[in-house]
Amino acid sequence: MNMYDIITKKKHGETLSEEEIRFAVNGFTDGSIPDYQMSALLMAICLKGMNDSETAAMTFAMRDSGSIADLSAIPGLKADKHSTGGVGDKVSLLVGPMVASLGVPVAKMSGRGLGHTGGTIDKLESIPGFSVTLSNEKFMENVKKTGLAIVGQSDDLAPADKKMYALRDVTATVDSIPLIAASIMSKKLVSGSDVIVLDVTMGSGAFMKTLPDAIMLAETMVRIGEASGKKVYAVITDMNQVLGTYVGNALEVREAVYALKGDIAEDLKRTCLKIAGLMLLGCKKADSLFEAEQMLSEVLQDGRAFESFCAFVKAQGGDVKYIKDPELLPKAACKRVVKAEEDGYLVSMNAETVGRSSVILGAGREKKGDPIDMAAGIENYAKVGHRFQKGDTLGILYTNREESLDAAEKLYRSAFCFGALPVAEPTTIYGIVDETGFHPL
Ligand code: URA
Repeated sequence: MNMYDIITKKKHGETLSEEEIRFAVNGFTDGSIPDYQMSALLMAICLKGMNDSETAAMTFAMRDSGSIADLSAIPGLKADKHSTGGVGDKVSLLVGPMVASLGVPVAKMSGRGLGHTGGTIDKLESIPGFSVTLSNEKFMENVKKTGLAIVGQSDDLAPADKKMYALRDVTATVDSIPLIAASIMSKKLVSGSDVIVLDVTMGSGAFMKTLPDAIMLAETMVRIGEASGKKVYAVITDMNQVLGTYVGNALEVREAVYALKGDIAEDLKRTCLKIAGLMLLGCKKADSLFEAEQMLSEVLQDGRAFESFCAFVKAQGGDVKYIKDPELLPKAACKRVVKAEEDGYLVSMNAETVGRSSVILGAGREKKGDPIDMAAGIENYAKVGHRFQKGDTLGILYTNREESLDAAEKLYRSAFCFGALPVAEPTTIYGIVDETGFHPL
């Protein structure tokens, strides 16, 4: 077997065998296959696609490239969730404690921000003292004690994905449904949970720009889950505008804390209830999604979800004073209020552009390794379908880099399209995918 023949086969649109896929993934991971040959194969896959069995074979080869977390010492079914990325997506900060407070352990590995999208690990690091690296023993101890632990991705889990993703990032081969599915599912399968709920975002701020593509990605990942013996659901959610109100690390933690005390934006609430509800349903803590969502609404109202968040933060070294009073979280030295320049309805928003504006302010990284300004970000009141009058506040930009404000404001304004006629508010959740297919909501 050699890489040249494998590349040629895929270039002609033929189906690769499991052995050929394992040969390519293992060889690239151990360094015997060079970057240029793997790049050629990835590009051929981007252009010619992969069927379900090839995608599953690639996922399993990537899963097996490192170690697999063993959560069997934690009693009961464990749940995990993963988002394909968004702007203002603080869902993991809420769903983790909501589910944990109802007795379902959540042992989660999360990522850092990528491009215009934020990452849970960066957000958690805005809490003074919070540690995103725990030893295996401490990780397990915390899950047993508080029901929830969230850490950064460790190097020995799915190393093939780490190497392949870095190559895809610089060879324009990220936007391939089978490659995205294999990348995400390889990481989810090594993290050891029994039930996985995928939040597949769709729209201007997401990888998937259309509903058919989002459904195809969701169905592919659910089928991979089924083939590996895990219970996997996917929820297709809207990312044509900012989720909730805030974008930026400390700003989103602050929003999450108020939300966990019951003061929560409607779109954020709907998304969290659906994702957390499927986690409970999959772990057999509720007989129906309706019942699960009712249980979850109660823990948001009666303080149990908030208490669970406090216990989680404390167990990972975070100073709970900042959670009890989130106004103490890092605040930016400079702000700019952005006002509507004319009357009109907000017809559409480019959420990616809003995300890029927050990166200019310092909330994300222009390139890997850049420092983040934890206090930077956007308080966004521009919601599609709302009517604004000249002078109304669209949003407030926060930063410690005063010189970034002009460019960030220009970009932020360019994200909006106003019109004279009313438009409907967009759907928050398009549907759920399970092993029987897509169910619109
Ligand atoms: N997120 C991932 O983890 N992998 C991809 O390929 C795309 C998004």
